This record gives sequence, structure tokens and C-alpha cells, in this order.
Amino acid sequence: MGIAILDFGSQYSHLILRRIRELGVFSQIFPYDVDINIIKKLNPEGIILSGGPASIYEKTALQCDKKLFSLGKPILGICYGHQLITKELGGKVERSDKKEYGKKILEIKDKKDLFKGLADQEIIWMSHGDKIIKSPKGFEVLGSTKECKISAFRNSEKKIYGVQFHPEVSHTSKGTTILKNFIFRICNCRKEWTIKNVKKELINKIKKEVGNEGVLIGVSGGIDSLVAATLLNKIIGDKLYCIFIDNGLLRQNEKREVISSYKKLGFKNFNFVNAREEFLNKLKGVTDPERKRKIIGHTFIKMFEKITRDLEKREKIKFLAQGTIYPDRVESAKTSKSASKIKSHHNLTLPKKMKFQIIEPLKELYKDEVKRLGNELQVPKEWVSRHPFPGPGLAIRILGGITEERIKILREVDSIFIEELRKNKLYEKIWQAFAALLPVKAVGVMGDNRTYNYIISLRAVLSRDGMTADWAKIPLHVLEKISNRILNEVKGVNRVLYDISQKPPATIEYE
Ligand code: XMP
Repeated sequence: MGIAILDFGSQYSHLILRRIRELGVFSQIFPYDVDINIIKKLNPEGIILSGGPASIYEKTALQCDKKLFSLGKPILGICYGHQLITKELGGKVERSDKKEYGKKILEIKDKKDLFKGLADQEIIWMSHGDKIIKSPKGFEVLGSTKECKISAFRNSEKKIYGVQFHPEVSHTSKGTTILKNFIFRICNCRKEWTIKNVKKELINKIKKEVGNEGVLIGVSGGIDSLVAATLLNKIIGDKLYCIFIDNGLLRQNEKREVISSYKKLGFKNFNFVNAREEFLNKLKGVTDPERKRKIIGHTFIKMFEKITRDLEKREKIKFLAQGTIYPDRVESAKTSKSASKIKSHHNLTLPKKMKFQIIEPLKELYKDEVKRLGNELQVPKEWVSRHPFPGPGLAIRILGGITEERIKILREVDSIFIEELRKNKLYEKIWQAFAALLPVKAVGVMGDNRTYNYIISLRAVLSRDGMTADWAKIPLHVLEKISNRILNEVKGVNRVLYDISQKPPATIEYE
């Protein structure tokens, strides 16, 4: 199965996972207290215990099942994981309120396996308060820093390792080598996580799961649903029913573009449904972001159920496929108990009593992996390079209440923004760009008259997978042109802002 990561709430758990996948090995995150039988069944080649914010001696300190240590699997504890191994196996951790933080020098004492290929001294990155003062029996020290004598240890017989520092962050100069040593030398993993293999495995898995049953998939202007649909189309062709619902929250020209693209890509059963009124009526007066997301998610499902009642006169539909990807689940806190919920991605906010069985072919993949899978499936380049567009559409970019007037304004602004980015050859360099309409108005002047109009915020971010993001440094002359065009061409807007917030602490979308 690859490497199982038990998450004790570290902000770096996902970085560990990414690093391992980048090295060509599958890895999956589990809550720290995952049922041991799940791990036994998956039979991973190795286990990593992540870091975490808690102190090991707090009453509420997170603990995994102790039986994990006698599974006979190689284990690597990182930071909190290192201390947990110590505590559980009989060593001693000293409480400390003083933090050792930042870049430190690790003096390496043993280069046999975990530290193979490293120099006598290496830069590592620390972030801890408590420290280990006595290793458990059977453990030997592999490296020390000035402040932390037991910065790394090993039990050769049990293949249990611990490091107090973070090999997954780029500030640890040989961090990747350390992880490589763990997964290949110690766990004997094979390099099998390539996009070609992912495709092959997904096809086999879906074939088994779906058999000869009908599958319904809701498609949108986004890449995730397109890649999921293309994958399913390859496997079940005639039995796949694509439903494209116009919820009234699509971008300018999106309806036309999506319909023509799916036709060109050879999808046989493509159904378009105009449900604008249904959605917009339900959203009338709703301002709370989570309620908006839930209403949209539930209305989609209701629409699907209604549509299938007609379809089922011809064909039995058992499954509903969704383009959910890994970060959607992370931010809806479906992957880990120790993570907090940031927002409910609409794919995941399903009513409890639902008629369909859900399949989510892309649920383990990050956005960049989905794009690579899209290329592998020969989805046209211009579609793979399209910016992500969220399921709830413009609803989460219109802060506050949604009205026809606001939707119209936002569509026009967004389309000018994107058009200018394309003209200036910036679209492909930016990970995602869009406009959002703020729920306040500002005073302005047009000709000789006072105006009291909407404020627009433009957002363009650089990212790798949407989990973190930086704002794009669009040249000022381009921003100037965009602002001028918006203020001149879109009625109802008298102020344009450019959002320079990073994620975190902001998110990419506004709601
Ligand atoms: P946030 O706002 O969470 O966005 O930083 C990260 C990425 O996810 C997209 N996003 C969604 N996609 N359904 C989706 O299919 C959703 O409910 C949803 N919410 C956010 C967002 O556009 C960005 O690319």
C-alpha cells in the first residue's frame, strides 16, 4: 500500500504525504487513532507518526493504538511522533516551555540507514518545546543538536526510528534524502506511484466497483469533473450519464463552452438541465457561506434524483460519481479528526438519506496530479490548463445575498479580468484567477454625479495544489488596464481592489 501517515495535527502532515508521493510511493493520511485493523488490512510498507501541537504529557495528548508498535512494520516518528515513541516504549520526555525553533545543526553519529549519504553535520529545522532526555531501551542515538541530545534515534531490531526535527520541510537541507532512506532502504517500498500506474489502478478499481451498473456524473466547467468523467467514459462509455446543471451561477459563456467541449470529447449521454430558478429561489436572502454551500449541494442532489427518475425508465442508475479531490476532503475535515473544518466543499455536503452510492475516483489526488491524469487521458491541453472553478460557482464569490443583478455584474467583471490575463499571456502562469463582489457599496463620482456602487475584488493566486497559495504579482500596467476596463464597461461598479492575501491565513475563495 505504501506509507501510512498517522496525523497528530501537524500543519506539515500533508507536506510529508506530498514528499513521499513525489518520490514515487503512494501514501495516505489517517487520523492518529485509526482502528489498527484498518492499518493491518491495508498492510503498508511503513508507518509515519506526524508532528502535532500538543505536549505529550498533557491530559488530552493524542495517542495512537499501542499495538501499532508491535505490528513489525518500520515506523518513523517525526517531532511529536518521536516523543510519542519515547513515551510509549519506556523512555523519558522532559517538559519544557522553552521552544527550540528554526534552523539548527545536526551532528550525525550514525549513517548506516536513515542518514545514509549525509555529511557529518547537516542543517535541520526544529520546532519543539518538550525534548527527549532518555531513549527507550534498545534505542541508539543517531544524531544530536546542541540543545537536543537525542534528536534522532533507532531501534534496529524493531526498525523504529524517531527524529525530533522536520525532514519534510525544505529548510532541512537533506530532508528528502532522509525520507528517501526511510521509504526505500528501511521500508523497501517500490517506486510505483506514477501517473501511468495511477490511471491503470483507477481503471481497474472503478471497473470492479461499478461493474455493469449505470453511473451519473454532474459536470461543470471545472477540470476535476471533466477528468473524472473522461476516466469513467473510458471504462463504461454508454452507461455513463453526464448531467450539466445550469444553477444560474456559471460564468459568462460557460454554458455554451461546456456543452460544446463535452460534445467534442465524445460523451454519448450528455444532458443539459436549466435549473436556474430552482437554485436562485432557494438562495434568496441567504448570506451565510456554509448555508449557501449546503443549499447548493443538496439542490444538486435533488435535481439529480429528479433527473434519474426519468432516466431510469431506460436505464438503472446505481452510482453518482463526483470529482472530489484530496484537498476538498482535507478542508471539509474528512481525512483527519485532528484537523478542523475550514469549509464544506459542496461535493461533500450530501444529504444523509441518499438514493445513490457515491463514487469519487479522484479522491486521493491533488490538483496537480488530476491535471497530469488529464494529460494522460488525452484531455485537450486548453481544458487541462483551465483554472479551477468551484462547484458552488459564483455563489461563493458573491459575498452576502445573491441577486440577478449581482450575478450579472460579477460575470461581466470576471470575464474582463480573464480576457485581459489571456491577452497579456498571464493566464497560464497563474494558478487561479477570478473576481469577487463585496457586500458593501462605496461612494464614487462619474461625470458630475455621485455614484454609490459595488466594490469588486480581483484575486489571482500562484499555487501548486490549492492547499497554500501566494498572490500573483501581476504587472501594474496590466492591473491598471483591467481596472479601467471594469470601471468603464461594467455598470454598477465604482471601485476595484486587488487582493494581496496569502493562503493561509486567507483561503483562495471568499466563502
Ligand atoms: P479554498 O477557498 O478552500 O479553495 O482555498 C481551494 C481550491 O478549491 C476550490 N474550491 C472548491 N471546489 N467545490 C469545488 O469543487 C467546492 O465547494 C470548492 N470550494 C473551493 C477553489 O476554487 C480553489 O481552487
